[in-house]
Amino acid sequence: DRAVHRVHGRDFVRERADDRTWRVGEGGFWQVHPQAAELLVDAVMRGLTPRKGETAIDLYCGVGLFAGALADRVGEKGAVLGIESGKRAVADARKNLADFPRVRIEQGKVEKVLPRTGITEADLVVLDPPRTGAGRSIVESVAALGPRRIAYVACDPAALARDLAYFTRAGYRPRFLRAFDLFPMTHHMECVAILEPAAKGA
Ligand SMILES: C[S@@+](CC[C@H](N)C(=O)[O-])C[C@H]1O[C@@H](n2cnc3c(N)ncnc32)[C@H](O)[C@@H]1O
Repeated sequence: DRAVHRVHGRDFVRERADDRTWRVGEGGFWQVHPQAAELLVDAVMRGLTPRKGETAIDLYCGVGLFAGALADRVGEKGAVLGIESGKRAVADARKNLADFPRVRIEQGKVEKVLPRTGITEADLVVLDPPRTGAGRSIVESVAALGPRRIAYVACDPAALARDLAYFTRAGYRPRFLRAFDLFPMTHHMECVAILEPAAKGA
């Protein structure tokens, strides 16, 4: 999380990505590298190839970056649900995405909120968890929705590897995995894994 200091009386900053302006309030998450958000949206959208009318879920959605990109692409006949635990981030996400009537942002922990939504299927899922990863129970819940593609955005390759093994057991296989040097001169890497049902084309 980044510290946001009051600038001209505002306690948020504005960022640009995917041809939109995003407000990010105090304590809210935004990628540190100035080109990262754009790059990751592009990698996730290319991997998922959203279609008009599809339903999509953005888990750990922050201020709504992937939810907004998905909403733009699934159009007014589609629908997007975002889930995020940070109250301020949720308020920002709702403001950022106010012009999409078919986007809903739920506040709370994914592990509690996702089962309560009553949603039983989705075409696409993005998950961008903190360093600890999503874990087995969330992976199984995501797979149970039967998405045609899943995008897993990860800042810790070890947690990603563990969760990919859970996905494999739940019937999903990586279609491709890309690593991005978003933290130059450090050993950190950001990864985007695109998964699809293992039965497809098998
Ligand atoms: C790596 S950030 C991703 C944010 C967003 N996808 C983006 O790219 O800007 C992870 C987000 O997950 C939220 N978070 C952490 N644990 C969570 C949980 N158990 N349930 C829901 N959100 C959580 C954090 O507040 C943070 O906004």
